[in-house]
Amino acid sequence: MPKIITPQPGPQTQFLSTPAQICIYGGAAGGGKSYGILMSPLRYKNTPGFGCTIFRRNFNQIFAQGGLWDESEKIYRGINGAEPKFARGQWWFRNRKGEIVSKVTFAHIERDEDVHKWQGSQICEICFDELTHFSEKTFFYMLSRNRSTCGVTPFVRATCNPDADSWVAKFIDWWIDQDTGYPIAERSGKIRWFIRRDETLYWANTKEELWERFNLVTDEERGEPRSVTFIMSKLSDNKELLRINPGYLANLKALSLIERERLLFGNWKIKAGAGLFFKRTQLGDILKTVPQDVVQWVRCWDLAATEKDDKGNPAYTAGVLMGKRKNGRYVVADVINRQMSASDVRKLIKLTAQSDRAAYKRVRIRLPKDPGQAGKEQAESYIKFLSGFDVTAVAETGSKESRAEPMAAQWQAGNFDIVYGPWNEEYLNQLENFPEGQFKDMVDASSNGFTEIELRTQFNLSSMI
Ligand SMILES: Nc1ncnc2c1ncn2[C@@H]1O[C@H](COP(=O)(O)OP(=O)(O)OP(=O)(O)O)[C@@H](O)[C@H]1O
Ligand SMILES: [Mg+2]
Repeated sequence: MPKIITPQPGPQTQFLSTPAQICIYGGAAGGGKSYGILMSPLRYKNTPGFGCTIFRRNFNQIFAQGGLWDESEKIYRGINGAEPKFARGQWWFRNRKGEIVSKVTFAHIERDEDVHKWQGSQICEICFDELTHFSEKTFFYMLSRNRSTCGVTPFVRATCNPDADSWVAKFIDWWIDQDTGYPIAERSGKIRWFIRRDETLYWANTKEELWERFNLVTDEERGEPRSVTFIMSKLSDNKELLRINPGYLANLKALSLIERERLLFGNWKIKAGAGLFFKRTQLGDILKTVPQDVVQWVRCWDLAATEKDDKGNPAYTAGVLMGKRKNGRYVVADVINRQMSASDVRKLIKLTAQSDRAAYKRVRIRLPKDPGQAGKEQAESYIKFLSGFDVTAVAETGSKESRAEPMAAQWQAGNFDIVYGPWNEEYLNQLENFPEGQFKDMVDASSNGFTEIELRTQFNLSSMI
């Protein structure tokens, strides 16, 4: 049976049929945006000289397993005349005589300076998959490369997930309800016009309005305004994905509030603010005693980066003792948070290791590993110093906010309890004020501790099977 490649009804069809020069297809995850971008150039595959370049920010996002190239294989392979040229990152489309008619190219632009490689090029269809990953400068520079000699009017297609801090949020603000952050359904697919002068955008509902406002008279001048539309995408539009991966929706629902708002509901305004990660009211319980059914304990430390803070006070060191229970719940059993000199920190970590062992037997200790040689040496020295204990030192990656996400998802689902202790108030306060509060050491120690617990328990499970 021949394979039929066709857009799904709704936004994907709209994306492939809009006459707008620039179309941004954005919103919730899994709506079929990248698939839409890959289908888009196929409409002109029989037009001699047609070329489309699809950009992602980095090379891996295209060529790593499951990346855009793999996706293109699924769609393009089997099309008559389609020929992959992997080494060039291209697909060629030939006619019946075997002549090359059109091409789709995959490329990346990691840094703003890289755009100069494209100087002098002419691309009829420019696509950006995940536009918010590119800078405004890159986008507008590439717009100047959007030219054509093949008879098809040049156009730009882009996809993205919401990102409140990105320049794209501003670019498409007319299509987004500025109070709620959700796309305005009636405006989805509506076309507006802009011209850009000295890096400022001037918008209007029609190009004629701009002709008048800027006194554009000649044909060339009148060609300056560009048309733009935004098409909102929702997971529910992608029946195909829900059919082949019915668990996808449940995965999105299990995300923390901020990620869920962005990726499930397409919210362009939500950002990390105090209380959005950990609310006191989401805590399950304050337990009188330490539960006996903990299957994995971790004591995770956040060490002060500098000996003194800006006011000359010793910086804070935090150590969080967290456990995962047989029933799947998490418990924070003890928190240390003190201003100490480096030598006192070493002593405290060892004493705590001894008392944790006496109280709870097997407790894994996790320490941060700072970047560079000094960090490596410090970690090695700690591991030696704590010989006989189960210790690991891990280099941190990503922002404190992104590290807090996995724990926040469980906290918000009500899966965390804490054990009653004098540290409770200070701990809950810091959690609730994150990421806006001044101090984040207890949060960071908790996030990393949670990651360690999840790693250990996954490992234990898989080694039991
Ligand atoms: N028209 C279609 N025909 C067949 N399958 C489709 C179609 N559109 C989407 N799909 C399926 O849905 C999956 C997810 O779509 P896609 O990767 O385009 O979503 P996305 O909106 O880019 O997601 P993300 O927000 O995660 O980047 C595809 O891998 C494909 O299996
Ligand atoms: Mg995608």
